[in-house]
Amino acid sequence: MALTPLKNLLHHALQEHYAVGAFTTFNMEYTRGLVETAEENQSPIIIMFGTVETDYAGMERLCSIILQEINWSKVPIGLHFDHGNSYEIVIKAITSGFNSVMFDGSHLPYEENVDITREIVRVAHAVDIAVEAELGLVGGTEGETGIEEPNTETAGLTDPDQALDFVKKTGVDALAVAIGTAHGLYRRKPTIDIDRLIAIRKKVSVPLVLHGGSDTPEDKLLSSIDHGIAKININSDLKAAFTRSLRSSLSNAPDDIAFEKHLSQATKAMKRVLQQKMELFRSSGKALGLLTHSF
Ligand code: CO
Ligand code: CO
Repeated sequence: MALTPLKNLLHHALQEHYAVGAFTTFNMEYTRGLVETAEENQSPIIIMFGTVETDYAGMERLCSIILQEINWSKVPIGLHFDHGNSYEIVIKAITSGFNSVMFDGSHLPYEENVDITREIVRVAHAVDIAVEAELGLVGGTEGETGIEEPNTETAGLTDPDQALDFVKKTGVDALAVAIGTAHGLYRRKPTIDIDRLIAIRKKVSVPLVLHGGSDTPEDKLLSSIDHGIAKININSDLKAAFTRSLRSSLSNAPDDIAFEKHLSQATKAMKRVLQQKMELFRSSGKALGLLTHSF
């Protein structure tokens, strides 16, 4: 049983100067690939999904598949609901087995984001579930894996003073910040505002989260880890490896109907990219330290 609270995962990451990768899954094969790679690299991870995957597989069904894999595994793993866009869906996530949830009210007027987030924190904390919220606008479309323009509008980026006010008023456990990344793959190189991250870090002590980590320059990811990012969300990079492999495997052997073989190949391709992420985030080898840490 290695289902691990978000707080422990992120506390240990901050303390040991690494980031926990949060990876989006949508089915059993993919989930197994995530867990196996975590075990092979002795890395803590967070497995997550959001509304797109809920529509595909069903929230409770996918949760129960993931929880079974987590129960069988020996490395610390969190199960996180990504980008909940309403009070109702986040409450549903809490009752479906996630041990942390994100409410994303970043598109709402500020006071409304504060009010709903605060109420969700109140309910979630009563049943020991951690809450991530978001302030500022990360580019691209949540849950989608399209080609996106990086967010270059300073206006949409997280304001450090507002971040302090938000964390104080809501009591969130982790805060997703907008510092120039976008969801999906990039049309052109993003500008990551590390100075802004440093300014936010000075004001706010909760662990910070970077969304849109795919396709982002590695040096920027590393320096974001150095400045308080404890969780990095990745979807597109893994899905691209999976889908490209599946496409070539199917077209290389058009008469081979053993779909499980094609799927295994695709999962292997995804696992190779995942391993690189764990190395990059410096989470490889951190599982034991986390499991034996006293919180
Ligand atoms: Co996101
Ligand atoms: Co400690």
